[in-house]
Amino acid sequence: MKTSWDYNQNLFEDLIEFVKSKKGDPKNPESLCHFDQIHAGGFRATINLLNLIDIKENQILLDLGGGIGGSARILATKFRCKIINLDYSLNYCITGKKLSKLCNIENIFFINGDATQIPLKNNLISHILLQHLNMNIKDKDTLLEECKRVSTNDGIIVFHEWFIKDNLNIDKLKYPLPWSDNPEFSYLITYKDFLERASKYGYEILHTEDDSLVALKFYKKIYEERNFSNPIFSKRNPEQIFENIISALESNLLEVYTGILKLNK
Ligand SMILES: C[S@@+](CC[C@H](N)C(=O)[O-])C[C@H]1O[C@@H](n2cnc3c(N)ncnc32)[C@H](O)[C@@H]1O
Repeated sequence: MKTSWDYNQNLFEDLIEFVKSKKGDPKNPESLCHFDQIHAGGFRATINLLNLIDIKENQILLDLGGGIGGSARILATKFRCKIINLDYSLNYCITGKKLSKLCNIENIFFINGDATQIPLKNNLISHILLQHLNMNIKDKDTLLEECKRVSTNDGIIVFHEWFIKDNLNIDKLKYPLPWSDNPEFSYLITYKDFLERASKYGYEILHTEDDSLVALKFYKKIYEERNFSNPIFSKRNPEQIFENIISALESNLLEVYTGILKLNK
C-alpha cells in the first residue's frame, strides 16, 4: 500500500548507515530510539506514554499506524506483553521487522494493514496506541468502531495526537506537514470532536495533557540545529516541513494532546 510520505524504498539500509554515522548502535534499542520515532517529542514522548500505562505479560498492545516500530521497541523493552505494530505502509512494516530482528526483540509482530479494517478478532486487545495516526485517517468513526471491536471490554486507548484548534482556520495551514505533503491526505479534527466521537463508542477519558509546547520545542531544536538528514524524510522537503509545523504551532492553529481513554463495553 502506498502513502504520501514514505518515499524511501531503501529505508532500512539508509537508516542503519545514518544511525552509525551518528555514532549510534542500530542493534541497541536504547540507541536506535533516537532515530526511529516518527512523531513530535521523539523517544521522550513515547517514554511519557508508557509511564501512563501498565501492561501485563498476558495482554496485547496494538500500535495502530505504528510506522517502523520505534515506539513498539521502547514498549517491548519495558513490558513483556505481545505487541502488534499495524501500518498501512508495507515499506515501514518490512523496515520495522528488520530493525526489531536486529535488536533481538521477539515480542513485536508487524502487520501491513489499514487501521479502519483491522485484521484481528473481536475482544483481543487490552491496549491500543494511537500515536500521530488520527490526522491520516479520514473515517474517524470507523477507526474508533474498529478500536472498540478488537478491544477487551475494559480496553485502553493511549493517544498522542494532533488536532486543529479551530476548524475555521483549517485553510491557513501550509503544506507539507510531517504527516502529509498535501491537504488531500490530512484529516484533522478538533480535540473536542475527537473526545465526543470516542465517548459515542463507549470511551471515557482518564487522563489528558496538552503537549503542544513540548512539540514546538522539539521541532524548533531540530530546525535550529539544521538536523534534517534522517532518511525517514528522504525525498521530502524537511526544512519546509519543519518551518510549516513550527509556524502552525506558534500561531495556535494546531495542538497536540496526550491522553488515556478507557472503554466500557
Ligand atoms: C506520523 S507516522 C507515525 C508513526 C508511529 N506511530 C510513530 O509515532 O513513530 C503515521 C503512520 O500512520 C500510518 N498510516 C497512515 N494511514 C494509515 C491507515 N489507514 N492504517 C494504518 N496505518 C496508517 C503511516 O504509514 C505512518 O507510518
